[in-house]
Amino acid sequence: MPSRRAWLLTAAGGWLAWRALRRRRAPFSFEGRTALVTGGSRGLGFALAQQLVAGGARVAICGRDEATLGRAHARLAGLGGDAVALRCDVTDPVDVGAAVEVVHDLFGPVDLLIANAGTIAVGPLDAMDRADFTSAMDANYYGVLNVVLAALGDLRRPPGGRIVVISSIGGRIPVPHLVPYSASKFAAAGLAGGLRAELAKDGVTVTAVFPGLMRTGSPRHATFKGHHRAEYAWFAVADSLPIVSMDAERAAGRILAACARGDAELVFPFAVRAAALAHAIAPELTAAALAAVNRLLPNSSGGPTRRWSGEESRSPAAPSLLTRAGDRAEARYNQVPRPAHNGAGAPA
Ligand SMILES: NC(=O)c1ccc[n+]([C@@H]2O[C@H](COP(=O)([O-])OP(=O)(O)OC[C@H]3O[C@@H](n4cnc5c(N)ncnc54)[C@H](OP(=O)(O)O)[C@@H]3O)[C@@H](O)[C@H]2O)c1
Repeated sequence: MPSRRAWLLTAAGGWLAWRALRRRRAPFSFEGRTALVTGGSRGLGFALAQQLVAGGARVAICGRDEATLGRAHARLAGLGGDAVALRCDVTDPVDVGAAVEVVHDLFGPVDLLIANAGTIAVGPLDAMDRADFTSAMDANYYGVLNVVLAALGDLRRPPGGRIVVISSIGGRIPVPHLVPYSASKFAAAGLAGGLRAELAKDGVTVTAVFPGLMRTGSPRHATFKGHHRAEYAWFAVADSLPIVSMDAERAAGRILAACARGDAELVFPFAVRAAALAHAIAPELTAAALAAVNRLLPNSSGGPTRRWSGEESRSPAAPSLLTRAGDRAEARYNQVPRPAHNGAGAPA
């Protein structure tokens, strides 16, 4: 009788061979496709939209802020492709339905949906209230569900489209001082897994993405509770340090490649994949490590506080030399208007 080890080796070999065979199939091409990127007006969504336009897709982006959408549209149109920017709040199913209809009428049925729009609230559990949990779920879970339901008719058309759900490493490992966010990202991950299983029969391929920190320039648009300046400082520094966070453009490239291959999941970079694996194997160990991290984070036991924006939470610690890379990402990924340049190429 084969030993347990032999069974395990055979199963692992079979899985690797099946994966290699699957990867040899021609990848999904973005050229001539209609893509809808929620939250494509800035940050990671904007980087994804730029790469899709460059790859020959017709790209619709959505977000809530008109000025940011206008800037994003001008930059996408400047790449020479077809792009449209729509004001739409993903938490509102009526708004989302109307936006998908406009995309359908302008560019034809949606072939690729990237559910990327999301919000982040940083602070200790003590400073959070129920509303923080419901608003995280509204944006990061129902915001995904609303757009999937609205576009499903298009995506199910033969031979079937693609859905990418942007969760987070926070949707694999519960992160202290990000509990409402983490819980909503776990929910989005569960939705993506269920959609993949049930929509396979219609030829729809779903990829769930679990990135670690990315330099998208987003801290100024996040909200902070408790000792908000200290919360902003650790978050902005972690989101900026090149060893801890990754370049958003590279991240976008990896996400589109995983989508084109039809991968079920993308957990990246490597250190984040290793942490997710450790959490799956030894949750007590990772929970103890996270409890230790929690003790290092700003303490707050004064009960729920108001939310402060990133803008209101700046201090000598951030922006600073340590946030330099993240600050540069702000203009690059349309978090702020790009500075005008004088003739010598230096900011005016
Ligand atoms: N940055 C990271 O380190 C990181 C790490 C892991 C996962 N992620 C995830 O990656 C995604 C993108 O992150 P990011 O850093 O690029 O964030 P970001 O720069 O703050 O961009 C978020 C985008 O979503 C839009 N948005 C937010 N709420 C919306 C709503 N209710 N309706 C429509 N659009 C909405 C924003 O536009 P408006 O505000 O104008 O609506 C913006 O376009 C998010 O889902 C985030 O959770 C980020």
